Amino acid sequence: MGGNSPEARARWERLCRTLEGHNYRYYVLDDPEVPDAEYDRLWRELAALEVHHPELENPDSPTQRVGVTPSSGFAEVEHSSRMLSLANALDEGEMLAFDQRVRERLDHEAVEYVAEPKLDGLAVSLRYEQGRLIQAATRGDGRRGEDITANIRTIPSIPLRLQGEKIPATLVVRGEVYMPLKGFHALNATQQARGEKIFANPRNAAAGSLRQLDPKVSAQRPLTVCFYGVGEPGVVPDIQRHAQLLEQLQAWGLRISPEYAVLQGVDACLKYFRAIALRRVGLGYDIDGVVYKLNRLDEQALLGTVSRAPRWAIAHKFPAEEALTTVSAIEVQVGRTGALTPVARLQAVTVAGVSVTNATLHNAGEIARKDVRVGDTVVVRRAGDVIPEVVRVLMEQRPAGTHAFDFPATCPVCASPVLRVEGEVAVRCSGGLYCPAQRVQAIRHFASRHAMDIEGLGIKLVEQLVQQGLVNDVSDLYGLGQETLAKLERMGDKSAENLLLALEKSKHTRFARFLFALGIRDVGEVTAQALASHFESLEQLQHADEEALQAVADVGPVVAKQISLFFSQAHNREVVAALLLAGVDWPDEMPVAEDLPLRGQNFVVTGSMSSMSRQEAKERLQVLGARVSGSISSKTNQLVCGEKPGSKRAKAEALGIPVLDESAFLEFLKRLS
Ligand code: IVH
Repeated sequence: MGGNSPEARARWERLCRTLEGHNYRYYVLDDPEVPDAEYDRLWRELAALEVHHPELENPDSPTQRVGVTPSSGFAEVEHSSRMLSLANALDEGEMLAFDQRVRERLDHEAVEYVAEPKLDGLAVSLRYEQGRLIQAATRGDGRRGEDITANIRTIPSIPLRLQGEKIPATLVVRGEVYMPLKGFHALNATQQARGEKIFANPRNAAAGSLRQLDPKVSAQRPLTVCFYGVGEPGVVPDIQRHAQLLEQLQAWGLRISPEYAVLQGVDACLKYFRAIALRRVGLGYDIDGVVYKLNRLDEQALLGTVSRAPRWAIAHKFPAEEALTTVSAIEVQVGRTGALTPVARLQAVTVAGVSVTNATLHNAGEIARKDVRVGDTVVVRRAGDVIPEVVRVLMEQRPAGTHAFDFPATCPVCASPVLRVEGEVAVRCSGGLYCPAQRVQAIRHFASRHAMDIEGLGIKLVEQLVQQGLVNDVSDLYGLGQETLAKLERMGDKSAENLLLALEKSKHTRFARFLFALGIRDVGEVTAQALASHFESLEQLQHADEEALQAVADVGPVVAKQISLFFSQAHNREVVAALLLAGVDWPDEMPVAEDLPLRGQNFVVTGSMSSMSRQEAKERLQVLGARVSGSISSKTNQLVCGEKPGSKRAKAEALGIPVLDESAFLEFLKRLS
């Protein structure tokens, strides 16, 4: 390829203009129009075009810079040493290739890495002189950033003075300012109430907050920070390793990630990555991957830096959770409780590794707020196990002639009027169990794996049973016969027989599962378990008043009301009686003390402690309700670690499991007793 091509130049121009537009929205307005993955795709296309057509290369191309030069309003700051970015590994193969390059360059068998979560916020550089914070800057283009000292000084976790010993005369520290999710949601709620801008994600919120010209506004924003490096490692005394640097920063009062870990070799890195990917949604803040750095600083120096990124570090990124696609239709589904949920049918698109063709629009309020229409180009998001959702519309790309979605006033399934309950976002079908959709969902829920676990009773079959009037409520399931079942579509003698066996098997269940299966509003698995542990019998539960119900851990006034309402309805009592009559039963529950602070927590104790034996430590934990086991697994919540811990400590660190040393453990016990 190569050579002068007018098409290539036209495409290049277009890509440059598009990317510049996106850069402006991202960096200057803190309000990006497209997901990062879309931006990256365009950027890579431009970079590839420039490789094939070197005549197009131009210093003004968006590929020729990192970030964007500062916008108006803030003074410019020159960084004393360049703020680097990181090369990315998008899958395990790229991580292995990185590790191989590192080992070849160092001529080592295996290397020691430090893993840190890649926080999704805003890089900052802080200068301390004589231990006092004198300047803070954004990254800008890596050489020059914006002076945000006044705003940084409002963040409570940033020390204005360092503490401790051997503080260098000048210390430049680098870290990430970010907004924890709780604060982010609270901020957006306030913004909405005030009719002000809603932030697309915590990173934009953090960026927007730091770049407020009025520091009084930043001060109101729930920002925090983690530090992960220094401008010049040489100034920090007595350190040979990155992990020591982190500990030293912490000792000086600078917050570091509690999740960092020292790992031996690339396999441990991949394990850490998988473990943190599983815990990601529970961290309370957004991360978009893991950063690995060579632990030994001499090895870092040996490898050096290429074009803006060090050779000794890499960011292993999670697959993108947002993508662009178009809406082909909008439908309204009726759920188990009658809630009407609008769903967008989409042109298939891969999000976080899975093909997505439907995304929820949540409820009538959300669809109106986002103004999603058929034909729109939208951002879809799929995070963790959460069902995909439409995040927002790209208004600039809306075709002509679209119409705002008209939310139905009657149930699309049974035509009953819909109700808007005050204080609730959902619009509900008023048909109750008259509505076939609600009936189907209630039966489906009853049969589901965590409820009665009736294998083979899928949604299609339930729909047929309801449509043909064979099953009106869940107790009818146990009256079905071989002949009736065998005649249904896609059934035969064998499937009918299997289903009858599964129905029979499901009768012998547990109290908690049974309660969950009934589908009482607001009674999920955890509440069902709490009720089953608290009440000795169904009889007792059915007769409990709201006050008695509220004595159960987890049950507040709202849930208590739902439970008592459920059992007060004759229809429900009849269904329950019919189920028992059909032979549904369960063994007595083991009584479990409910109020122990460490209930449900898994601990491992290792090493030797000076103040107590391992056995004592185990017993103290067990008394508080913890389970103590002998080996670390992904289920372990905490490791208590004395002297000479052996391999357990490294394993816990590799899995990102918090480790309590003896003094922290004693402190921990003191707080709980
Ligand atoms: S180290 C010399 N560590 O990711 C390496 N960066 O693309 C410089 N980031 O601009 C970065 N968490 O904003 C490093 N634990 C971490 C990080 C981290 C988030 C961000 C940072 C940087 C970008 C690199």
